[in-house]
Amino acid sequence: MTSLRLPGLIDPHVHLREPGATYKEDFDTGTAAALAGGFTCVLDMPNNQPPITDVATLQAKQAAACAKARCDYGLYLGAGVDNILTAAALADRVVGLKCYLDQTFGPLRLDTLEALVQHAERWPRERPLLVHAEGRSMAAAILVAQLTGARLHICHVSRAEEIDLIRRARDKGLTVTCEATPHHLFLTAADAATIGAGRSEVRPRLADARDRAALRAHLALIDCFATDHAPHTTAEKDSANPPPGFPGLETALPLYLELVREGLLTLDELLARTVYNPQRIFNLPEQPNTWIEVDTEAEWVVRGAELYTRARWSPFEGWRLRGRVLRVVLRGRLAYENGNVLAPPGSGRDVRAATDANSLTSGEECKDR
Ligand code: NCD
Ligand code: ZN
Repeated sequence: MTSLRLPGLIDPHVHLREPGATYKEDFDTGTAAALAGGFTCVLDMPNNQPPITDVATLQAKQAAACAKARCDYGLYLGAGVDNILTAAALADRVVGLKCYLDQTFGPLRLDTLEALVQHAERWPRERPLLVHAEGRSMAAAILVAQLTGARLHICHVSRAEEIDLIRRARDKGLTVTCEATPHHLFLTAADAATIGAGRSEVRPRLADARDRAALRAHLALIDCFATDHAPHTTAEKDSANPPPGFPGLETALPLYLELVREGLLTLDELLARTVYNPQRIFNLPEQPNTWIEVDTEAEWVVRGAELYTRARWSPFEGWRLRGRVLRVVLRGRLAYENGNVLAPPGSGRDVRAATDANSLTSGEECKDR
């Protein structure tokens, strides 16, 4: 056995579905899946029902997370056409502002260029402005960030033309950061034949082998790895109208380690993308006395039914993966060991709690909100 001690991983892009769709996932099951996958901190997206766009919706979500999360977390705010001033005023309580420039799951969509420019102008410079922006939308987002000085972070880059655009922006000295998902690094549209048509629906869509090769060839440009853990039930995925999204928290680390085994990254470069760059880009506090222990050689077969995510399926079903989390210690307490999640609901902390007197930290306090 090759046991390796690593810092707790950070996933900067998850959808834990609370409030509004807790039958798909909630802060309890989603953070259990995170710990099982070796993540001690997850940053949760705002495309909930209702979307997280103002103080009332943010407080409701903070209360749910505070009461139920088993690992640390940060929350994003969503950009709409009518919350430009409200969003900027809430910047200190969240880890970033998410702008959906393309169609995806949920109602949150920033349709006008004017609203994007206004958010980019108002949102504090030192905080990241995240975009779901594919193809031409990505080009627009890069220009708007350049013109306004906003700190742009591009979510889930998936295509050759997109990573090429980011390379060109970097070559010109623009400070744009980006992330890539395990599914875009390991799957292509051709895998729909085995995954199933509805189950393989995801945004951005699975691309072709050339796109996947371009991402793998340009890992140096990719600042973070992010699962975009987006659980939906198997009934929904197998229906006539399948929603896009994959669960990913429990299969990510062995896939990331595969990139190291393939010689595409060093272990230090992997840790930059899963710990240190996310810490820096999203202004996250260090997690003291926090680490994970991984058996890098342990092989296991992905079985959706055995996962902690409430979705209980995986696009990597049946894959033989190498690398298993043995133990997770979060702030000095054993949080996960040999398949068992030990951290109770409510033990996770909001990464903005220390800077925000309004963020609560214990299960009891959460109820008073
Ligand atoms: C996400 C979801 O289901 O919330 N779906 C997806 O396919 N990635 C939305 C998103 O991240 O765009
Ligand atoms: Zn997402």
